Amino acid sequence: MIERAFERCSVRSFADLGGVWAVDGGYAFFALERFDIERAYLVDEDHTAAVRDRARQFAQLELVSANFGAEATAERLGWVDAVILFDVLLHQVAPDWDEILELYAPRTRSFVIVNPQWTGDGDAVRLLDLGREEYLRSVPPLDLHAELFAKLDETNRRRGRPWRDVHDVWQWGISDAALTAALARLGFALVYFEDLGSWQGLERFRNRAFAFAKESR
Ligand SMILES: C[S@@+](CC[C@H](N)C(=O)[O-])C[C@H]1O[C@@H](n2cnc3c(N)ncnc32)[C@H](O)[C@@H]1O
Repeated sequence: MIERAFERCSVRSFADLGGVWAVDGGYAFFALERFDIERAYLVDEDHTAAVRDRARQFAQLELVSANFGAEATAERLGWVDAVILFDVLLHQVAPDWDEILELYAPRTRSFVIVNPQWTGDGDAVRLLDLGREEYLRSVPPLDLHAELFAKLDETNRRRGRPWRDVHDVWQWGISDAALTAALARLGFALVYFEDLGSWQGLERFRNRAFAFAKESR
């Protein structure tokens, strides 16, 4: 997806938002190795030793340990040619996934997105609103999810916010129509789409890839 989008959009600078868990920055490092990149950011609240070690090879890469939903984080990054959101949009609450797009839209000319996309009823569904039973029928079968409804209003100390608003759990069902409409409102057109198949066998999600580019007005 990085190859397809970066070639189409002639990317020389990028921000990989939430690029750490399970992949230790692998997508950002791939982009740095494969393309001629002048400036890059890897933003995550949970950087790892493996990321810090590998980052030393790339002088043009800055590791940013922060919430990428904060206005101050977006300001710190400034302009980038591409914003990468791989498997992060459906986790975003306060600000919500569409507010994250709004925050970065004036600061980039392309969004490269891979996301488990909602194929159930409704366009953009806050999954917790489905209630415990339907929530658990929709999302991956993790202990984290099974235990969530017993502590929704308790503070998650690591994130400093109630459990109902943490990005560690699945939060949103975002349909293709909702994603495309949100980006169209912000002046971005779909330039690449790929259906990557089912998402770990879940009935109500498909793994899908999108590249959006700013329309010239
Ligand atoms: C589900 S993992 C996805 C990891 C990787 N991008 C991938 O596709 O495999 C979500 C990652 O984003 C980070 N993350 C999610 N929301 C964040 C936020 N608002 N600010 C900073 N990091 C966030 C998490 O710490 C985690 O590393």
